[in-house]
Amino acid sequence: MMQEIKPSEINGNFIKLIGSDWMLITSGNTGDYNMMTASWGGVGFLWARPVVTVYVRPERFTHGYIERTGRFTLTFFPEDKRKDLAVMGKESGRTFDKKHYPGLTAVELPSGQVTFDHARIVLDCEVIFKDTMSPGKFVDREPLEKWYNDEPGGGLHDIYIAEIKHAWIKTGD
Ligand SMILES: Cc1cc2nc3c(=O)[nH]c(=O)nc-3n(C[C@H](O)[C@H](O)[C@H](O)COP(=O)(O)O)c2cc1C
Repeated sequence: MMQEIKPSEINGNFIKLIGSDWMLITSGNTGDYNMMTASWGGVGFLWARPVVTVYVRPERFTHGYIERTGRFTLTFFPEDKRKDLAVMGKESGRTFDKKHYPGLTAVELPSGQVTFDHARIVLDCEVIFKDTMSPGKFVDREPLEKWYNDEPGGGLHDIYIAEIKHAWIKTGD
C-alpha cells in the first residue's frame, strides 16, 4: 500500500538513499516508458518548491523520454531489488525490453506517471529547469578529469531540476 505524503514529511537520508541505495529514474506512461538506475542526484528546496536534481547523460534512452514528457519519477526500493537496479543500470532500453523485465512490475500513479511494485519511496516530478554541463564551468577540475576523461568535451551530464509534485511512501505490507 502506498500513501501520499507531503514532500516535507519524507523521512530518510537522501545522501544514502541516492548514493548508496540507488534509485530508478522512470519517464513515460504505462504504455511507453523507460527506466534507468541513478546514484547521483539531490533532493532539496528551490524557487519556493520542493525539488529534485538529477544528472542524465544525453545518450541514455531515458533522456529522450524526459525531454519529450518533461516528467519523471524517482523510485527507491528495499535492498532485495539491488540486483534489478544493477540490470537497469547496465542495459539500455534501446536494446533490452525493460517493460517486460520480470523483476520490476509497473504501477501507474494517479498522475499517469510510472513507478514499480515494492517501492519504498516515490517522488513524482515535473521538470522546471534544464542545463548542460560544460568543461569550462568546472571550478575544481578533478571531477572533469576523473569522470569525463574518456570523452573529452563530450559525455557530460544534463542537469534537470524538477518539482516534486507528489510524494508516496510504502505503508505496511
Ligand atoms: C549504480 C549506478 C548508478 C548510475 N547513475 C547514473 C546517473 O546518475 N546518471 C546517468 O546518466 N547514468 C547513470 N547510470 C548509468 C545508467 O543507468 C545506464 O547507462 C543505463 O543502462 C541507461 O539505461 P537507458 O539507456 O535505458 O536509459 C548509473 C548506473 C549504475 C549501475
